Amino acid sequence: LRLGILASGGGTNLQAIIDQCLAGSVSAEVAVVLSNKPQAGALERARRAGIPVAVVEHRTHPDREAFDQAMVEVLKKSGVELVVLAGFMRILTPVFLEAFPQRIMNIHPALLPAFPGIHAQRQALDYGVRIAGCTVHFVDPGVDSGPIIIQAAVPVRDDDNETTLSRRILEQEHRIYPQAIRLFAEGRLRIEGRRVRITPPLM
Ligand code: GRF
Repeated sequence: LRLGILASGGGTNLQAIIDQCLAGSVSAEVAVVLSNKPQAGALERARRAGIPVAVVEHRTHPDREAFDQAMVEVLKKSGVELVVLAGFMRILTPVFLEAFPQRIMNIHPALLPAFPGIHAQRQALDYGVRIAGCTVHFVDPGVDSGPIIIQAAVPVRDDDNETTLSRRILEQEHRIYPQAIRLFAEGRLRIEGRRVRITPPLM
């Protein structure tokens, strides 16, 4: 399975996916890493792993649709079969979604549908929840609203701040994202309306 990873930040989720693919525990390969930020740490991680990289900057395109079309062309040229958003901080338009129907995954650092959008970890702390976590889902036209594949929960401690909670959640992100990609590569995910059926079930 050829993966196209989109990242705007440091790329620790990208690194976890690269490591699991190299270890052979996920039968997939990272075909290209694409960023909208030329200085993204994720690009450096890709280069170190010998993975092709591409930069598509949104300000060099007249509008969102043209930007998305440019990214689609890079991904199609690389033969990408599954798009993985790993800390990608742009909203995708139907131009992109229609190029990869039901083949785009995202990870969000909260137990959706709670706390969609940015600073999810801070939203959880401000709300005072006792349990936080992360969600891997298929991307649909909404923001953080697509069919959920896997979630993981972590406790929120009284002395937690955004950094300590984010770190605890990130550890789980690095576990469930490769797992979700492995399930997809094994053909074990089936989208049924809002729900994703895993066959055979996990556990
Ligand atoms: C993570 O918190 C992830 O949940 C969110 O963006 C952050 C990216 O982290 N999507 P990294 O760039 O993978 O380290």
